[in-house]
Amino acid sequence: MPFGRFFGGKAAAPKSAPEPELESEAADAVEASSDDDTEIVKEHDDADYRTRAIGVMPTGASTGSKRVEALYGSPDAVGPTHFSQAVGCRVTDVDGIEYIDCTMALGSVALGYAETNVTRSVVDAIARGNVAGLSSAREVEVAERLCGVIPCADKVQFLKTGAEAMAAAVRLARTYTARDVVIASGYFGWLDWAAEDNPGVPVSTRQLVRHVPRDDIDALTNAVSQVGSQLAAIVIEPVVERLPSKEWIVKARELASSVGAVLIFDEIKTGFRLRTGGYQAFAEVIPDLSAFGKAMANGFPLSVVCGHHDVMDAAKKTWISSTLASEGSALAAAAAVLSWHDQADVCESLATIGAEIRAAVSHAIEASGVRGPEIDGLDQMWLMRWDSPKREQRFLELAAAHGVLFKRGAYNYSALAHDEDAIREIEAGASDAFVELRDEEAAE
Ligand SMILES: Cc1ncc(COP(=O)(O)O)c(C=O)c1O
Repeated sequence: MPFGRFFGGKAAAPKSAPEPELESEAADAVEASSDDDTEIVKEHDDADYRTRAIGVMPTGASTGSKRVEALYGSPDAVGPTHFSQAVGCRVTDVDGIEYIDCTMALGSVALGYAETNVTRSVVDAIARGNVAGLSSAREVEVAERLCGVIPCADKVQFLKTGAEAMAAAVRLARTYTARDVVIASGYFGWLDWAAEDNPGVPVSTRQLVRHVPRDDIDALTNAVSQVGSQLAAIVIEPVVERLPSKEWIVKARELASSVGAVLIFDEIKTGFRLRTGGYQAFAEVIPDLSAFGKAMANGFPLSVVCGHHDVMDAAKKTWISSTLASEGSALAAAAAVLSWHDQADVCESLATIGAEIRAAVSHAIEASGVRGPEIDGLDQMWLMRWDSPKREQRFLELAAAHGVLFKRGAYNYSALAHDEDAIREIEAGASDAFVELRDEEAAE
């Protein structure tokens, strides 16, 4: 029974999820790999990996948010940096120490690490050949299913990362409108078009994007009237810590339509988390294009740009292509995720579980008497706000020492795998960390 291990009766989404038939010998491999008794081979300790990482990677980690200073606040912080196993909501570091994880791989995992149905689907796809010179049949099947659950999606095109999908959305908007200028509000990944002030990005590229503050109707209206008939797109990350005001989103829709520009929503974090179809599924405002990624494939590399067929068809005029965009493993993962969402209210469960985790951490703060940290955000993606980076770092170090990983300066994400035991352990670990922080500060 693949799900009992993760959900322990408590956090299971309302209906039972499908169990795909494994049609290849891959089944044995999955059973072996998902065995709880998998031995952790301890060859190196964490400090060794940190040193080696700095030796071979310029910033010590290919994902910026996983650098030591991003995890804890400074390069010499005390805490795990490299993992050897991640199953459910539990991560084991290279020293064999287990932690409850609240970060869930920057929100790319919503079911749980190594979720059995996803793993089975992926292993089966790999066993059949991950790629060929022809397109995979699975690409069509997953595309059809996405068009069925994402409100704006008449057509889709797969890519690998959120940044790529957003870059493709902007390319499509520029092609469709034959205009260059974009008004943007939010974070859209590391690629040139979206960079506000990064070295290495040509000034001429930056000048084509006007960044406006979120939820500011006047700023948006002024920017649109200044850009006028040069405007290709209004690009919005709708949910940043909280839902946007309805007025702002409705205004964005009106303004884009009034000047013939394309409205783009970035649903990389919100898709398959707030609602299967993202923020737009309850916004009553439908963008022309949007991008999904992260939880859509539960930790496998897949993103999608999707939207109205007229705008998506601009792909026929320009060039958006990536050799491995339709490789089988990530599409198979997405197929398993879609089956979960077909048969269970995953997003509702994520909200319920997230609310319980937030309550547990809030209780730990109150019980310790520590002043300063505040819990903010939404239940499915919540954050701990600190009054001082030094205190935040010390708390994160102490929480890790007590077996819980929290995200520094960004979201913690709920997952179906956060069962009752895990939530109890989160509260206990956070409690111990807050009490120790309080005592350390009192002794200073
Ligand atoms: C809203 C949003 N858009 C785009 C991205 C970029 O996605 P990726 O890191 O997969 O390129 C992120 C990543 O955190 C994101 O949160």
